[in-house]
Amino acid sequence: MDGAATVRCRYNFVPIGPRPPMKIRQLVLDDAAPYHALRLRMLRIFPDAFNSSYEEDSRKPLAWAERRIVPDAAAPHDFVLGAFADTGELIGSVGLAVESRLKQRHKALLFGMYVAPEAGSRGVGRALLTACLERARAIPGLEQVNLSVTATNERARRLYESAGFVTFGVEERAIKVGAAYFAKAHMVLRFAAVPLRSSSKPERRDNEP
Ligand SMILES: CC(C)(COP(=O)(O)OP(=O)(O)OC[C@H]1O[C@@H](n2cnc3c(N)ncnc32)[C@H](O)[C@@H]1OP(=O)(O)O)[C@@H](O)C(=O)NCCC(=O)NCCS
Repeated sequence: MDGAATVRCRYNFVPIGPRPPMKIRQLVLDDAAPYHALRLRMLRIFPDAFNSSYEEDSRKPLAWAERRIVPDAAAPHDFVLGAFADTGELIGSVGLAVESRLKQRHKALLFGMYVAPEAGSRGVGRALLTACLERARAIPGLEQVNLSVTATNERARRLYESAGFVTFGVEERAIKVGAAYFAKAHMVLRFAAVPLRSSSKPERRDNEP
């Protein structure tokens, strides 16, 4: 195994090595088939890491992946990024969806963080997350990014925490895979600290009657 250290945990059975040469870019329509394939592979290998299931999503047509990659005009800021090896192979991806309702448009959901196991632990996930957050910060009006991660997925949690995400709640028994329940940690990254109000009543402005 070319001298690389092997770390074993629930989500990691691959050697840690140097970051492979790669390119990160927004996915386009032509990427739908490899994206769909990577996504289904990840759902199959890591069933407890995602809310979606291989059983359900393997029945979704390619058009579903195309719609996710190229969202409609109502979601102009949404995107899915892909990490590509120098062979051109898609080795990872992550998506961001801005909430559509008026009162929630300051929030976006980070979803579908996948790094193919053979490319894992080499900085691909961090590079995807960094690129995703850079783009997110440029979205007008966006103040925070939310995500949920299986509480026992230490590797992903550590990655998110190192980018500034904090856990604001844990839902016990959030997903059930076979007979096993898994908790989900809900995490948020706020771009700028906004003072919290202690009352649910709207704040009164000085010039209001
Ligand atoms: C979680 C995941 C995206 C991380 O991607 P990755 O490319 O392997 O991660 P990176 O190599 O960029 O490492 C980023 C951080 O993750 C953590 N990490 C990576 N490999 C690790 C390992 N072998 N053991 C423990 N922590 C590890 C570390 O905090 C690391 O930061 P560091 O390099 O500064 O120490 C990837 O493992 C994956 O796709 N896992 C399966 C699906 C999944 O869990 N997705 C997330 C759903 S919320």
